[in-house]
Amino acid sequence: MKVKDKEFEVYITEAELAEVVEQLAARINVDYAGKHPLICPVLTGSFIFSADLVRKLAMKCEVEFVKYTSYEGMHSTGKVQAQLPFTTKVKGRDIIIVEDIVDSGISMNYMLHELAKFEPASVKVCSLLLKPGCFKGGFKVDYVGKEIGNDFIVGYGLDYDGEGRMLKEIYRIKS
Ligand code: IMP
Ligand code: MG
Repeated sequence: MKVKDKEFEVYITEAELAEVVEQLAARINVDYAGKHPLICPVLTGSFIFSADLVRKLAMKCEVEFVKYTSYEGMHSTGKVQAQLPFTTKVKGRDIIIVEDIVDSGISMNYMLHELAKFEPASVKVCSLLLKPGCFKGGFKVDYVGKEIGNDFIVGYGLDYDGEGRMLKEIYRIKS
């Protein structure tokens, strides 16, 4: 399968993704039972994952999107840009940041720092995917759907230079 100039192969099927989302939601449902968290998905990559995740949540919750970007093509620029930042709405709330993937962790480190300025009551990070081989640390990913290798991936919301987000499976670049 081709996205732009690169060949990709199926890596995580639709069925496995559904299973991973189900398991993440089950854990969040236990931890936040009786609470009223504010779910903050990070655009654009997590729009599909977060839509599936929130529909499996059992507690009262609200959704407030943020948008922070760092990637260009297949690589992180290392600089994070706030395009839709956190606002005062997070003050005093139990926040769950929902990401598609934590790679180096630079984006999340930046977001956590920004978020802290607004004094939320608590903050947890939920990421569908984690690349432990790239992760530089600095925070804990409280809910990890699946750990993967360092390969570049697309689909289920994740893009290659803007394309491939609508793919139902996650695809890995062919080496
Ligand atoms: P980090 O700042 O290096 O952790 O990068 C995190 C962000 O980069 C994610 O929110 C994604 O938008 C993007 N990203 C990281 N790895 C990939 C990938 O393999 N495919 C597509 N986007 C990725
Ligand atoms: Mg992203």
